[in-house]
Amino acid sequence: MKKILITGGAGFIGSHVVRRFVNNYPNYQIVNLDKLTYAGNLANLTDVENSPNYRFVKADITDATAMNELFESENFDSVIHLAAESHVDRSITDPTAFVITNVIGTVNLLNAAREYWKGDYNKKRFYHVSTDEVYGALGEEGMFTETTSYDPHSPYSASKASSDHFVRAYHDTYGLDCVISNCSNNYGSHHFPEKLIPLAINNIKNNKPVPVYGKGENVRDWLWVEDHARAIDVIFHQAKTGQTYNIGGHNEWKNIDLINLLCQIMDEKLGREAGESAKLITYVTDRAGHDLRYAIDSTKLQNELDWVPSLQFEEGLAKTVDWYLTNNEWLENVTSGNYQSYYAKQYDNK
Ligand code: NAD
Ligand code: TYD
Repeated sequence: MKKILITGGAGFIGSHVVRRFVNNYPNYQIVNLDKLTYAGNLANLTDVENSPNYRFVKADITDATAMNELFESENFDSVIHLAAESHVDRSITDPTAFVITNVIGTVNLLNAAREYWKGDYNKKRFYHVSTDEVYGALGEEGMFTETTSYDPHSPYSASKASSDHFVRAYHDTYGLDCVISNCSNNYGSHHFPEKLIPLAINNIKNNKPVPVYGKGENVRDWLWVEDHARAIDVIFHQAKTGQTYNIGGHNEWKNIDLINLLCQIMDEKLGREAGESAKLITYVTDRAGHDLRYAIDSTKLQNELDWVPSLQFEEGLAKTVDWYLTNNEWLENVTSGNYQSYYAKQYDNK
């Protein structure tokens, strides 16, 4: 029996990782630790919340004492760390919040793991989930590999880069069994509608303007979130200690092309005339320091651990739109903030 701490499990990617581990590994005990910030939503996990091998703990990774007490009382075998502030635009408004959660929070977890595993790192793994944004921005050509130098530009990516460095430092200095993965942009169900794809779906549905930053020429490399969760599973179980893997879908899209595709899909699904949704596209002031292009080379993951993406983008996007159109209540709760007060209250009283 393995007891695995998954942090940030109430968020977008974390909820897919929790679901996968709870369902695929009935012999593991999965403890989901999440602060339930605006981005944390336990409604993402209603299908597994009563599973005998799942438990939720409301806690804040920036609270070192709470992390130490938790490690002491729970005796975790491994950690999969996803909790983070994750939105670039918010990091531009409030960089300090990103340093506190993403850097200090990660170091608190590393310290707790180091302290309570007491140098016995056999079969005890600290898996840090990170982003391709640490590598900075590409021009028209090239791809990020695991050996690309770090060159973060936004406060978000700077905080994630810093946390990656701390994880490697704890591996090199104390021998902690650490692995890191750096993934490209994810899309799929349960994605908070402040990020491009769910925001655009929600706005198109509600006939609201779809904001496109700058000229819409920035390129992102999109991966279906369940393919990311599967990659994390494979890396967690098979990677050698100290390794880093890039995860990506070989699926680059200019923002404006992606939005146009989404508008087409939405026209079909909503029974609108062709071109109707695209009228909502509104060019707005560009994001400060907006990285031009991200593209991931995931050859290492493919060659060493036999992982490849499973879903074509057009199919995945149509599936994602269907999810948002059938899960109105989720979307309305999230956009009105109801979920926060409801679930936060439930757990504050425990
Ligand atoms: P998200 O914002 O949807 O979820 C983050 C979760 O962390 C939320 O549930 C939130 O409540 C929790 N959290 C935040 N601060 C916390 C704290 N102090 N203590 C405990 N919990 C806290 O983010 P996401 O998009 O699911 O990203 C998850 C991880 O994957 C992040 O580390 C992010 O950097 C990384 N990542 C994301 C993407 C992407 O496209 N979204 C791509 C690559 C890597
Ligand atoms: P986002 O989903 O915020 O992810 P990230 O910044 O981490 O890549 O943004 C994806 C791309 O879409 C990015 O180039 C910024 C752009 N964007 C818009 O054009 N309009 C929007 O309303 C948002 C949220 C993003």
